[in-house]
Formats: sequence, C-alpha cells, structure tokens
Amino acid sequence: VILAAGEGTRMKSTRAKVLHEISGRSLLGHVLHAVSSLNPIETRVVVGASKDDVIAHLSSIAPHARSVFQEVRGGTGHAVKLALQDYSSDGVVMVCAGDTPLLTGATLTKLLAAHSSAQASATVLTAELPDPSGYGRVIRNPDGSLSKIVEEKDATEQEKKTLEINSGVYIFELASLRSALTKLSANNAQKEEYLTDVIAILKNDGKKVSAFLADDYTEIWGINDRAQLSTCSFIMNARICDALMKSGVTIVDPMTTWVDLSAEIAVDVRLEPGTTVKGVSKIGASAVIGPRTTLIDCDVATGAHIFESHCESSRIGPHSIVGPYSHLRNGTVLTGNAKVGSFVEIKNSTIGDGSKVPHLSYVGDATIGSETNIGAATVIVNYDGVEKHATVIGDHVRIGSDSMLVAPVTIGDGAYTAAGSVITEDVPPGALGIGRAK
Ligand code: UD1
Ligand code: MG
Repeated sequence: VILAAGEGTRMKSTRAKVLHEISGRSLLGHVLHAVSSLNPIETRVVVGASKDDVIAHLSSIAPHARSVFQEVRGGTGHAVKLALQDYSSDGVVMVCAGDTPLLTGATLTKLLAAHSSAQASATVLTAELPDPSGYGRVIRNPDGSLSKIVEEKDATEQEKKTLEINSGVYIFELASLRSALTKLSANNAQKEEYLTDVIAILKNDGKKVSAFLADDYTEIWGINDRAQLSTCSFIMNARICDALMKSGVTIVDPMTTWVDLSAEIAVDVRLEPGTTVKGVSKIGASAVIGPRTTLIDCDVATGAHIFESHCESSRIGPHSIVGPYSHLRNGTVLTGNAKVGSFVEIKNSTIGDGSKVPHLSYVGDATIGSETNIGAATVIVNYDGVEKHATVIGDHVRIGSDSMLVAPVTIGDGAYTAAGSVITEDVPPGALGIGRAK
C-alpha cells in the first residue's frame, strides 16, 4: 500500500507532489520501482489530492496497480483502512509513502526478511537522523525493544530528543493490522487517525512489534518542498553516476553531469562537465559527450563526439562529430562519419555517410546523400509560410556557400550550386545550378 493522498502544500505547485520528477521518473514511479522488487501480489495506491492526474499517471506507468480514493484526509491510519477495505486475504502488507524516492528495493527486501525472522506482527523501518525534526520518534523500552511511535507534534521534550525516527515504511501481519485499525482514534494534535498508533495498540494486545534500522538514512528522506526535491535529485544522480562509473563510463565531473535512470551508456564513454542525458537515450561505446551538451531521447552510436550542443530525438551515427553550438531537433539522423558544425540547426532530416554541414546552416525536411558538402550559411527553405516541403540532395554534391534551396527541390548526385544562389528548380546530376540576383 502506497500512501499518496496528501496535498503536498509546501511544494507550492499546481502539479501533484508525487508527480514531480527526479532523474526522469516521478516520485511515485520511484516508490513503485522499489516496491516491485518485493513482487507483491497486489499494489494499491491511496490517492486524494489531484487524483485524476495521479490515476492517469499510474495507469501509464503501473497499470497493474490499483488506486483507492481517499476523499477526506483522515490520517495515515484512515488511509490504510480504506486501502484494505475489500482485501480479505491473510499474509503481510507493506505500507509506505509515495514521496520517498530514495528508498531501495534492497532495503525493503531486508526489512521483509527482518520481519519474517522476528516473527513480529509489525516491523517498522527506522533511521537515525542527525536532525530528526518533523518526523515521528521511535520510543524504545529500556531493554531496547520497540515501545511506540510518537508524532513530533504530540511528543514530550524528552521524546523529541530521540534521534531514531519512523520512516513511514512498515510491514504488518494483515490479521493483526485489521484488528488494530478498528481501535484507532483521532485524539491527537492533528485530529487524524495515525497509522503509527497501531504499534502501541498491537503491543498492548500482547503482539510482538519490532523495528529495523536502515543502513543509509538518506533512503528514508521524504520530499515536502522544492529544496528537498533538489537534495534528493542530487543523491539520486550521484547514485546513477556512481553506477555508471563502476560499469566503465568516465564522468569527468559528476557534480555537473545529470543522467536520467532511463539512459543506457556503454563502456568507455566519456561524459564531459555540464552534460545532461535525458529520456530514453542510448550512447554507444567510446563516444564523447560534452562539455555542456544536452541529449534528450537520442541514440548516439559508438565513437561519436558531441560537444557544446543540444540534441533531441535524434540518431547520431558512428564516429559523427557534432558541435560546437549545434542544434539537432526531432527526426535528425546522421548515418555515420557525418560532421555538423557551429551554429547549425537540423530538423527531420537525414545526413548520409561522410557528409558535412559545417557552418551556420539550417537543414529541415531534407534527405542528403553521402560525401556531400553543404557550404557555409546554406538554408534549406522548407516552409512557404503554410506548408513544409521536402528537399533531396544526392551523393557527392557541393552546395555553394550562402545557397538558398527553395523546397520542394532536388539536387542530383555530383551537382554543384554556385555561391549566393537561390535555387528554385531541380539541378540535374553533375550540373551547376546558379541563380543570383543581378
Ligand atoms: C508520517 C508518520 C511519521 C513519520 C513520517 C515519515 C504518521 C502519523 N506519521 O508523518 O511518524 O516519521 O511519516 O515521513 O503516519 N497520507 C494519505 N492520507 C492521509 C494522510 C497522509 O494518503 O490521510 C499520505 C501522505 O500523502 C504521505 C504519507 O501518507 O504520502 C505520510 O503522510 P504525511 O502527512 O506526510 O505524514 P508525516 O507527518 O510526514
Ligand atoms: Mg511526510
């Protein structure tokens, strides 16, 4: 059960808190990912604030998960009651929150193992924080066993000094939990039914409750505001960069290199400072990316070199060179050994093997063959103000500098255009096209 009905007021956002993203994945997506490593029979998500958006997101990323609507915020205990309303099987349930993206499947697996070996009715994942403020405190008996959880707003000065806090992640025996939930009251500072009170209730019923201390306290960090969003992004990104470096990728400066979880980066790739790799991007072996380059949903082949550039939904073939200051837009394909140079924008175009667009050009809706050179300041005039038109340029073509190729137009293999020409008619193979103003 993932609790995600909260308002997220402190985010000051029009978007639901759990839909904010870290490393290209929503906060809720991170939690679902961690939870999936337990192979749950069923996953339920309690939704409330911005429920339509959260439900739509859920159906796209985790269609197997079921949403449960909590109309009024009655507290974490109330939320769990709702989630289990029509679930009558026995076994165990894990409860966590939808805003703790750093939680790992490995820790959840250890928590479940600790719960089983303790044969407890409930096991709470706890952590020792340098600054526990804001969290529920874990109160232990003199013998070290778990006594209860006290919310900060209800805690005594003495209890507030406890550094061990409740992560908000628990494993419960379903039968015990069901009976404890009926005994919850909202007689507390927040006038809510606290799930945390279940611990003391179980204890009073003579049931065994236990606590499992997380190795890494950063895993339990929840996100309430934008500053915490940034802190958690930073930690997640450091994890991603660490894993990449262990797998054989050179990252010159992990502090300024941001890589989404969905990126695939091969060995001996070198990421230079200021590089961002977003979306479903793939980078082949020995490619060099950066400095100061952004790739979004790009497929970069082995040995390519892209620097000081912005590339989106593009395919960059083997050993191609892009940059500095190139802008590859959606649908750009460099088949291989191509060169795209400074201040060049390309959209929805294929540049054949060994062809070059080295300086100050716009190429849109064009197909360019192999070993062709596009002279400096060439513009493919693809737009007549209403519609876009296609341009075809053959192999071994030499387009003179400052040519305007007015689409639709075809330039045959081995043809030339004279510098400064406005080409409005097809140029046959091997011919010279010239069209200059007097
Ligand atoms: C809760 C715990 C606290 C723990 C902390 C860890 C309780 C009473 N307290 O406090 O001991 O240290 O988490 O982060 O459980 N939610 C619902 N419906 C509700 C209320 C909350 O779905 O009616 C969801 C929230 O969206 C959130 C989660 O439950 O994802 C926790 O609620 P929140 O209000 O953040 O509780 P905390 O005060 O942080
Ligand atoms: Mg919280």
